[in-house]
Amino acid sequence: MEFFDVVNSRYSVRKFKDEQIKPEDLKKIIAAAGAAPSAKNAQNWHFVVIQDKELIEKMGKTVDAKMERIAEGLGEEKGAKFLKFSRFSTFFRNAPTVIAVYANEYIPEGLKEVLDSKMPKEDGDRMWYANPGIQSIGAGIENLILASVALGYGACWMTSANHTLLELEKVIPFNRDRHKLVALVPVGVPEGDKKSPAKLPVEDIMTVIE
Ligand SMILES: Cc1cc2nc3c(=O)[nH]c(=O)nc-3n(C[C@H](O)[C@H](O)[C@H](O)COP(=O)(O)O)c2cc1C
Repeated sequence: MEFFDVVNSRYSVRKFKDEQIKPEDLKKIIAAAGAAPSAKNAQNWHFVVIQDKELIEKMGKTVDAKMERIAEGLGEEKGAKFLKFSRFSTFFRNAPTVIAVYANEYIPEGLKEVLDSKMPKEDGDRMWYANPGIQSIGAGIENLILASVALGYGACWMTSANHTLLELEKVIPFNRDRHKLVALVPVGVPEGDKKSPAKLPVEDIMTVIE
């Protein structure tokens, strides 16, 4: 598929066919993720590919349980509102493959020097806000998703189950020093047609300063 066709046909896929990704495609998808740029070439990512249906369901149940606890803490009205969109946090359980994205710790380049030189706290705060470590992970995830589309699959970048990261880290049998779970990406063959919200026109997202 031509690059711009891949970019423009990508959408967040939330329903999948009961069909597994071919192992050779999976390798290409993860290799594409690993080909992304990363700050200082830290390659501070790890992609845990989960295809064990029982584990995926256990992860779904773990998110369900955390959402129930959050809803309880919110009280009846706010809790019901919170649970109304719970499917957006748990639909990964219907995907044949769920990629759990882990980020290794990354201290922004120059942060220590800025703090040591007694620059205003705002400088350090802005450096954390623009966190290069997490920007790198984003580049990896987007490559992963675009590669999936190029190979005929679909995916969805997911962070709305992030209230359950600590519990999910206990359920997923992957432990590596300082690597932390940051997102889930279900991948598979899309069921149904492209459904995607409209995008802003280019003029609205671009400012040219001449
Ligand atoms: C960082 C990030 C987190 C997201 N988290 C979720 C999520 O948890 N659940 C979900 O259903 N969609 C999630 N999405 C998908 C967005 O809702 C989607 O990209 C957006 O609505 C635009 O639709 P499109 O991807 O079909 O173009 C996420 C997207 C990004 C980039």
